[in-house]
Amino acid sequence: MRILAISDIHVDYAPNLEWVKGLSRSDYVDDVLILAGDVSHKRALLDQTLSAMTRRFKTVLFVPGNHDLWVQGEDPKMDSLGKFALVAKTVADCGATMETVSLGQWLIVPLLGWYDYSFGQPKEELGKAWVDYRACRWPNGFDVTEITEHFTRMNTAPAADDVRRRITVSHFLPRIDLVPSFVPQRHRMLDPVLGSARLEDQLRSINPEIHVYGHSHINRSVCMDGVRYVNNAFGYPQESRITAKQLLCIEEV
Ligand SMILES: [Fe+2]
Ligand SMILES: [Fe+2]
Repeated sequence: MRILAISDIHVDYAPNLEWVKGLSRSDYVDDVLILAGDVSHKRALLDQTLSAMTRRFKTVLFVPGNHDLWVQGEDPKMDSLGKFALVAKTVADCGATMETVSLGQWLIVPLLGWYDYSFGQPKEELGKAWVDYRACRWPNGFDVTEITEHFTRMNTAPAADDVRRRITVSHFLPRIDLVPSFVPQRHRMLDPVLGSARLEDQLRSINPEIHVYGHSHINRSVCMDGVRYVNNAFGYPQESRITAKQLLCIEEV
């Protein structure tokens, strides 16, 4: 049994959806898939993708990304918390899970989150460029700190006396030094919306060997302070240099 990971499959792009449909129906029947967010803001596509994955994999663990909580095309009265509830229902209906997965000697622990500007304050140009500011809707008074607290409060840690090895999973980055040094300065304006230090606090309390994340669309596997951080994003079609566009086996059980 293998534990495979991918994130940011963004199936609104036809080639990405074709890749999902083209995955083998026999190669992964004993395997676990970690799907680390940003499938689509369209629930029909989320349903189609998760259903395709649960037909192919033994277990599918999903954590929503920011795109999955966009409310474009939804009832105008629905906010992104309502969308989260609908996404959670879709996940359950498709036979995937957003709960901790137990797998022999391993526990795979999902960490919900958002970004809270703990990696920097946004500049004015980010306000114009970042689609979440228009595509998500939050209850009155909900700022990014509240959003991040709301989701991270929902996370649960394994019991302290549980000795199984751990993998944690988030869509958002738990630390800003996961952004590689080759990223040009003009792209660093995105730092404030990449993640939250709160996620790093939570994963350290869980003490994983591996942390899988997404969101940055920059594939990486790097060891920091004793944890291997892995991003294996599928990414947008044009992002062929920074993404591998294939499943990554992170562990064999
Ligand atoms: Fe993404
Ligand atoms: Fe994202």
